[in-house]
Amino acid sequence: METINLKINGIAVTAPKGSTILEAARLAHIEIPTLCFLKEINEIGACRICIVELKNGKLVTSCVFPVEEGMEVFTNTPKVLDSRKKTIQLLLSNHNRSCLSCVRSGHCELQELAHELGVEDESYYDGEKTPSEVDYSAAHMIRDNSKCILCRRCVAVCENVQNIGVIGPNHRGFATDIGSAFEMGLGETSCVSCGQCIAVCPTGALTEKDYTADVFAAIADPSKHVIVQTAPAVRAGLGEEFGLPIGTDVKARWLPPCAVWALTRYLIPTSPLT
Ligand code: SF4
Ligand code: SF4
Ligand code: FES
Repeated sequence: METINLKINGIAVTAPKGSTILEAARLAHIEIPTLCFLKEINEIGACRICIVELKNGKLVTSCVFPVEEGMEVFTNTPKVLDSRKKTIQLLLSNHNRSCLSCVRSGHCELQELAHELGVEDESYYDGEKTPSEVDYSAAHMIRDNSKCILCRRCVAVCENVQNIGVIGPNHRGFATDIGSAFEMGLGETSCVSCGQCIAVCPTGALTEKDYTADVFAAIADPSKHVIVQTAPAVRAGLGEEFGLPIGTDVKARWLPPCAVWALTRYLIPTSPLT
């Protein structure tokens, strides 16, 4: 295999020819933040948060920029950090910043980067906001474009992994938003409710519908026998959640009482109660 020698932050790194700077950095355990990047699924260089500085002072997006022999790269210079901070401020300027009540708060990649980069003035570039409406039409999820950063990870996973392709960018420029053809609600499309787009979304733009209250109401109703039916992947996921070996099928096991919470989170979107 042909290799390339370069330096990242003064550290000698050898990477396979054709690697990107990001891949070379990860080989050397050097952290570079990313937002739009999803390995082998979405490598489009859209968000520019992974910016790094070359020896000649040029800023390049590390997730798409190939390594070259003798290259010298710096990942944390003042110029790099300033650029990343401005990128986050610009994203936040067209964002519904309702972190206090957002279901993603605490595990939102945008929020985490804003915190990490010391973004104190989140409204620095505030101006007009792209109009958007929340889409509640699907049984399993909610789409809220006011929290979308147009990273297109959802588009790529739907198209390239699930081979469904029911979402994509509509309109152009400042009006661009992610949606279905002819702006139909997701529930009117051939979406298969796999939830992969929710799993890859870095923000609170895509979330599961929460049926927790319905579950507790059904459990409390003496006229009902509450049963749960799950898909195999969900049973395996539940097992992992409770520390069982990967792949354990939990259907024949008694789960602890706290599993009720997990059941409501994981199962109900595909298992209506009757
Ligand atoms: S998506 Fe992230 S940054 Fe936006 S409101 Fe939710 S937690 Fe806050
Ligand atoms: S909905 Fe989420 S994953 Fe899709 S483009 Fe917007 S922020 Fe990215
Ligand atoms: S992660 Fe590289 S441009 Fe988005």
